[in-house]
Amino acid sequence: MNEDEGPLIEDRTVGSTLQVTEACPVLAGRFFVFEGIDGSGKSTVSRLFADRLRSTGREVELTAEPTSTWLGDQVRRGNREAKSDFTETFLYIADRAEHTAQISKWTSEGRIVVCDRYVGSTLAYQGVTLRPHLGPGTLEWLKRVNEPVIIRPDATFLLRIDPSKAMARLEDRKGREKFEKVNFLKKVAALYDRLAEEDPSYIVVDAERPLDDVLGTVWSMVNKE
Ligand code: TMP
Repeated sequence: MNEDEGPLIEDRTVGSTLQVTEACPVLAGRFFVFEGIDGSGKSTVSRLFADRLRSTGREVELTAEPTSTWLGDQVRRGNREAKSDFTETFLYIADRAEHTAQISKWTSEGRIVVCDRYVGSTLAYQGVTLRPHLGPGTLEWLKRVNEPVIIRPDATFLLRIDPSKAMARLEDRKGREKFEKVNFLKKVAALYDRLAEEDPSYIVVDAERPLDDVLGTVWSMVNKE
C-alpha cells in the first residue's frame, strides 16, 4: 500500500455528504471520531468542532484516547518506558474497553460524543508496530481483538496531511513522542488510507488547508439543520 490516494479516497474527500447525519439532523446521541497522524491538527479541530456544536445548544462530550483516566495514564507510562509492542497494544485496548462503556452511556443519554482518536488509531499505529511480529494478517488480528470493546462511530473524520508537513508542524513541540518520526508516520498514514478505503464511515478531509477551512468542511458535513 503506498501513500498515494486512490480514487475512492479522492471521491470522498472534502465536499462529500454524510448520509447518516442527513437522515438524523438533530445529532443527539451521535458519535464522531477524529483520526490522523501526529501533527494533523485533529486535537484542535475536534475541540473547535465540539465548541461549535455546543454553541448551537447541543450537549456535547469531548473526549480522547489515550483517556485521562488511570488506564490512560498506564498507556502513557507504557509508552514512556518503551514496553513491548504487544504490551502497548493491549494497554490501548484496555483503555478503550472502559472508554467505550463511557461513550455508550453518553450517547444513550442523548449527548453528542466527539472523540480525538479511537479504534482507528490502534489499527493504523499498532498495524505498523505489530506488523514485524504478525505479518500480513496484522490488521485483521487487530480488528478481531478490538471488535468486542468498540462501538461503531457514526463518522470517523480522517484528517489527511503529508507526514513531512505534519512533522514540520510538530517541530517546536516539547517532549516529542517516539512515534513522531516521519518514516513511521508515512506507514501509519498509508494504513489510515487503507482503512478509509475499506470503511464507508470514514470521511477523508484535506488537513493541509487552513484550520478554518478544515473546520468548515467538517461542520458542513454534519450540520444539516
Ligand atoms: P495524541 O498525541 O493524539 O494524544 O496520541 C498519543 C500517541 O498515541 C500518538 O502518537 C498515537 C498513539 N496511539 C496509538 O499508537 N494507538 C492508539 O490506539 C492510540 C489511541 C494512540
